[in-house]
Amino acid sequence: MQIVSSIAAMQRLAKKWQRAGTRIGFVPTMGYLHAGHLSLVRAARKRVGTNGKVVVSIYVNPTQFAPTEDLAKYPRDLKRDLKLLRELGVDVVFTPSDAEMYPGKFENRFSTYIVEEKLSQMMEGASRPTHFRGVTTVVAKLFNIVLPDVAVFGQKDFQQAAIIKRMVADLNFPVKIIVAPTLRERDGLAMSSRNKYLDPEQRAQAVILYHALQAAKAAVKKKSVAGGRLQADLKEFITAAPLARLDYVEFFDPETLEPVKQVKRGTQMALAVFFGKTRLIDNAGL
Ligand code: PAF
Repeated sequence: MQIVSSIAAMQRLAKKWQRAGTRIGFVPTMGYLHAGHLSLVRAARKRVGTNGKVVVSIYVNPTQFAPTEDLAKYPRDLKRDLKLLRELGVDVVFTPSDAEMYPGKFENRFSTYIVEEKLSQMMEGASRPTHFRGVTTVVAKLFNIVLPDVAVFGQKDFQQAAIIKRMVADLNFPVKIIVAPTLRERDGLAMSSRNKYLDPEQRAQAVILYHALQAAKAAVKKKSVAGGRLQADLKEFITAAPLARLDYVEFFDPETLEPVKQVKRGTQMALAVFFGKTRLIDNAGL
């Protein structure tokens, strides 16, 4: 497994593979890998086969964090990440520095951003207004550096995946986006690097996100339900966990992300819940 930290070296490798007709599968991550990330890596390998190359990037992207968010504290363990990726047979890990990705940002030498203007307005975009601009910008940069044929994203970040698919379609990136299912802990909590921030009591109550998704699924199994009504019921359901503070619960069309008035089978649901300063998200098709 090669570890590459320079953009020029990564592009040279990717171009060499391209010339040889070798398919490139890519999994962008912010590191602190868990089983969910590893399942994305396996999906990438499956897509490109044993003759293809799998690249994983590990980069905690500052432009997707607001000044008040957890950038400095975001968990990191490169040594462990590299060990896990080596065991999985990854070909290249791309680990650039901030100076490499955003040269002279603070002297104003970086000033081009990619902004998706529609799907990024609601939910995560409403709660974290500069977040998706940072995500689309870094993912576009990474695509230009790694030159992937296929890139794999997790379903847990449903809105992120939808926005990246839209960016790829709108800007004609020659890459196929795969969205791989959410992996869950035994009790149903979606795997996330941020789960590490939860203390034992918060961790025990965090399963409420999964239970809320299950409750909504049960509520619309036989009949449709008014969105406002279900929202109110779930708000009550979630705040029964004393440490939980609901940020949002939304019901929407899985393609357009437009909110729906009547919730029925097939409607997508997403929610964000704070436990102390830790903000967890989850989603499911009902
Ligand atoms: O999902 C993530 O971990 C990040 O948003 C991504 C796609 C790696 C971009 O920094």
